[in-house]
Amino acid sequence: MKTPEAQSAAATGDPDPAFRADVLACFRDSRRAIPARWFYDKTGSELFEAITDLPEYYPTRTETGLLKRYCGEVTEMGGRGRAVVEFGSGSSVKTPHLLRAVQGQHYVPIDISGDFLRESAAALAADFPGLAVHPLEGDFMRPLQLPDAVAGTPKLGFFPGSTIGNMVARTSLDLLRSMRETLGVGSLLLIGMDRIKSPDILVPAYDDAQGVTARFNLNLLHRINRELDATIPVERFRHVARWNDNYARIEMHLEALEDIDFTVLGERFSMAKSETIHTENSHKYGPRDARLLLRAGGWTTLHEWTDPDDWFALILAEAKPFQTAP
Ligand code: AVJ
Repeated sequence: MKTPEAQSAAATGDPDPAFRADVLACFRDSRRAIPARWFYDKTGSELFEAITDLPEYYPTRTETGLLKRYCGEVTEMGGRGRAVVEFGSGSSVKTPHLLRAVQGQHYVPIDISGDFLRESAAALAADFPGLAVHPLEGDFMRPLQLPDAVAGTPKLGFFPGSTIGNMVARTSLDLLRSMRETLGVGSLLLIGMDRIKSPDILVPAYDDAQGVTARFNLNLLHRINRELDATIPVERFRHVARWNDNYARIEMHLEALEDIDFTVLGERFSMAKSETIHTENSHKYGPRDARLLLRAGGWTTLHEWTDPDDWFALILAEAKPFQTAP
């Protein structure tokens, strides 16, 4: 995912200031962590695509199956003709199923990257001739002003891919509240969440036999070397995926295999053997966890659809008016 800064940086050759700040903060701090959004340079995005086809990585194919099967029911419950508002349209491959079922006249893809937005907007406009596509470039973590064209139309927010799982609880609440502000009372939200399940299923989904996820994780170090003129010895790191039961999440780390020294933009850093860089969280939600999280963010669950194993959930929720306590 490219930020606007990254686009101008690509033109000038200067590194993305936000990437630079996050990476330097990671190595200056004793608590080493880099936000997961930096995975998605060109190689990272391609590796993620490859992950979604892996036999061990069930979320994408399970969610797509649910969408194919149940978008008709979603429309029956929510009503036809809603304006679909997609948060983070990088994943807009799943959108046609929903758009076809809803049969609305408006689609608002929101993304921080103008590149992604224009691409997905153009592709969808070609496939849906009657549909007005209103791309909105912005950070959906904050409330946004929707285009005037959809002001009078009931809205259906769409947030697939279990992307909410990347956020810690506090941040996911901020996001749900922002979405409620953006969409307004009476709106619906269709959101994908990955369920808690056995670590025997979860860990291999993030540490596959072919090593694609390992390459995806390690690519972050290559990216730092390339874009921040760094000298990290990537082959002296290994990919680690572990289940953190207290937080109900898969964590991905990059573990140093020995003591190492390197530089980033001329600044010297070191890591001790077995120290890790925390690169991603992927939170999982049981049925009541999911409903409580949504409710805390101002969304009442209307219905949820899951696969026969209950591995993944597609949840339809409504922004009901707030009620005073009885
Ligand atoms: C894109 C955040 C949904 O957490 O499952 C896949 C990212 N990381 N394998 C996930 C990911 C490693 C993915 N999300």
